[in-house]
Amino acid sequence: MEGKMKIHNSGKKASPRDLFVYLAAALSALGGMLFGYDTGVISGAILFIKKEFALGSFLEEIVVSVVLVGAVIGAMAAGRAADRLGRRRIIIVTAFLFVLAALATAVAPTVGLLIAGRILAGIAIGAASFIAPLYISEISPVKIRGKLVSFNQLAITGGIVVSYLVGYALSSAGDWRLMFGLAAIPAAGLGIGLLPMPDSPRWLFGQGRTEKATEVLRHIRGHADVSDEVKEMRLSIEKQSGSWAQVFSPHLRPALIVGIGLAVFQQFTGINTVIYYAPTIFQFAGFQSASAAILATLGVGVVNMLLTVVALMLLDRVGRRPLLLTGLIGMTAGLTVLGIVFLFGGTAAIVGGVSVAALMLYVGSFAVGLGPVFWLMIAEIYPLKVRGLAMSAATVVNWGANLLVAVTFLTLIRALGKAGTFWLYAVISLGSWFFVYFLVPETKGRSLEYIESHWRARKHPRSMGKQS
Ligand code: BGC
Repeated sequence: MEGKMKIHNSGKKASPRDLFVYLAAALSALGGMLFGYDTGVISGAILFIKKEFALGSFLEEIVVSVVLVGAVIGAMAAGRAADRLGRRRIIIVTAFLFVLAALATAVAPTVGLLIAGRILAGIAIGAASFIAPLYISEISPVKIRGKLVSFNQLAITGGIVVSYLVGYALSSAGDWRLMFGLAAIPAAGLGIGLLPMPDSPRWLFGQGRTEKATEVLRHIRGHADVSDEVKEMRLSIEKQSGSWAQVFSPHLRPALIVGIGLAVFQQFTGINTVIYYAPTIFQFAGFQSASAAILATLGVGVVNMLLTVVALMLLDRVGRRPLLLTGLIGMTAGLTVLGIVFLFGGTAAIVGGVSVAALMLYVGSFAVGLGPVFWLMIAEIYPLKVRGLAMSAATVVNWGANLLVAVTFLTLIRALGKAGTFWLYAVISLGSWFFVYFLVPETKGRSLEYIESHWRARKHPRSMGKQS
C-alpha cells in the first residue's frame, strides 16, 4: 500500500532545472516536425510533379499516399527495435533515414525513384511518430509530462504550417525538388541534436542497467536524490520478456483497447481530409479563387497550431479526459454544421463564412483533444517491458486508418454526397465521445509506474484518475 502511495505522489515540481528535459523534448520533437512537414508538403509539390512526369491520376495518387504505406511499415518495424536497442538510438537512425529520403526525393530522376524516396520518408515518419513521444515520456517529470510529450504534436502542426508556407513560397518557381530537399535540415538537426542526449533512464532500467539509469536520472533531474523515482522503476519491473503474448495478456487488454480505439477514432473522425484536402473543401464551399482557398487552408494550419499550444498549457492542469471530451463535442458540432452547409450550399458570402467557422471549430477542437492526447496517452499507458511493441501496434493502426480515410474520401463523397460524408464523420466523432467517457483513463499526475500497477491490479480504467 505504502509503495503505491509513493508511486502516485512522486514527481518533483517543474523547475528551471528541467531545462535540460525541455531541450531534449524539443529536439526529439523535430521528429514530429518532419512528420508534419513531409505529410503537408506533398499538397503543393504534387501540382508540379504531375506536370514534370506527366502523371495520370493513378500514379498521382500513388505518389501522394505511398508515404502512408511507408509509415505503416516504419511503425511496424520500429517497436521491437526501440525495446531492444533503445529509444534514442532508433531516433538517430530515423533521422538518418529522413535525410536520405529528403535527398533522394529531391534528386529523383524518375517517378519510380521518387516513389521509393517517398516510401523511405514514410518509414522514417512511421517510426519517429511514436518513438519521439515514447522517449520524451520516459525522461519527463510526471508533473509536466503531458506538456513535454505534446511538444511533439505542436511540432507536427508547426511542420504542416511550414510545409504550406514553403509550398507557397516555392510555387512560383515550381521548385518541388527544393520543397522535399529542405526537410534534410531539421532531419540533420534531429540526428545531431540527439547524439549527446542520454538514453531513456526507464529503458536503461528495463535492460538491467540500474546504475547507468540512476546516473542519467540524476543528470536530467539536476539533483542527486532520485531515490523515489528509482524505487518506482524497481516496482515496475516484471519478470517477463516483452513479447506479443505479453502485449495481448488479459490484464493489459483495457490498455490495448484504449490505444487501438483512440488510434482509429483519431483518423476516422476525418482530420486528414481537412489537412490533405482543405483547398478542395473550401472550393466545395464556394471559394472561387485558388488563392483564397490556399489562404484559408493556411488559416486552418495556424488554428491547428495555436490550439495545440492551448492544449499544452491545459493537459497537466485539467487533465487528458476533459480535453478529449470537450474537443470531441466541438468536433461533432463543427462536422454537423459543415454537413448542413454542404446540404444547402450556395455562393452567398455567409455560406463561405459559416463553412470556414465550422472547419476552424472542428480543427481547433481536434487540436485541444484527440490530436495531442492520442500520442500522449499511448506513450503513457503501456508497461515498460512492452511499451515499444504496444505503441507500435497502436501507431500501425493509426497510419493504416489514416491511409484508409485518405483513399476513401473522394469515393465517399461520390457515394454519400458531401453532407453525408461529413455527417458520417460527425457520427463517428459522437461515438468516440462515448468511447472516451467509458473506457479512457485519466493519466494526469500519475507516474508511468503507477499506471502500470493499476493495470496489474486489474482495476477499471476510469478509476485511474480518481484520488486514492
Ligand atoms: C495526427 C495526424 C494529423 C495531425 C494534424 C496528428 O496527431 O496523427 O494524422 O495529420 O495530427 O495535426
